[in-house]
Amino acid sequence: MKYSDIIGVMDSGVGGLTVLKELLKVLPSAKYVYFGDSANLPYGCKSKDEILFFNKNILNFFLTLGVKDIAIACNTTSALTYEDLKSEFTPKGLRIFPLIHSAANEAAQGLNESECICVLSTIATAKSGKYAHEIKKVNPNLKVVEIPCPGFVEIVENRLYNSKASHELVREKMQIVLENKAKRVILGCTHYPYLIDLLSKFAPKEIFFNPACSLAKSISGIIKNTNATSDVDFYVTGDPDEFKKSAKLFFEITKDVNFVKMPEFSSV
Ligand code: DGL
Repeated sequence: MKYSDIIGVMDSGVGGLTVLKELLKVLPSAKYVYFGDSANLPYGCKSKDEILFFNKNILNFFLTLGVKDIAIACNTTSALTYEDLKSEFTPKGLRIFPLIHSAANEAAQGLNESECICVLSTIATAKSGKYAHEIKKVNPNLKVVEIPCPGFVEIVENRLYNSKASHELVREKMQIVLENKAKRVILGCTHYPYLIDLLSKFAPKEIFFNPACSLAKSISGIIKNTNATSDVDFYVTGDPDEFKKSAKLFFEITKDVNFVKMPEFSSV
């Protein structure tokens, strides 16, 4: 299949589908290729060099498909490697849209001085301080508490929603949110919207902010709908059946969808 007007969507696993879902709402007739690097997840506890190596492999693969626009549907990638990817791949003709910038900007609106925003994220995203940095550009007086949540991605990828350990882990992290009297909680990892039922046992649903909506909105301001019918092809480095099982709980995958098992990247 030769592509034109295709949007590449990339993540370590099924998390980026929360972004694809929002993109399909605002750009329903675009063609999409989704890359889930599930053989290498979680990205959130890996080094920048490792993540950059995986990202470059994915972007080079997208280039071979003729993809022109990339939605980085991964906060960890947006936080750690976006600038490097932008300088290497923009000259090659790719337009790259990161998650954190548009999301932080929108999330910072409408709060009073010194009110608190909590950001739930991977260890790497929290360590980068990127959300706090971007939020404070908009409103320097807001209090931003970045909360690393190792283990949340595994709950989603392994469908452990009902386990006692998962509930305990979510309760422990939400305790920090409650102690800080957060007015807004950013789901700063694209896997976390899958956990909304669990998270909202501890705080009202309305305070959770999904960055995928901001990214989709900002992309739809730049890319226009075509008259074609929408179409998604999936490329997965891990087990496609496991990917489908986890994805199906959140995203409708029709029978005629094309799933391709990719070879794993050789090591860094
Ligand atoms: N879903 C990704 C993010 O938004 C990465 C999660 C992971 O692989 O650790 O950060």
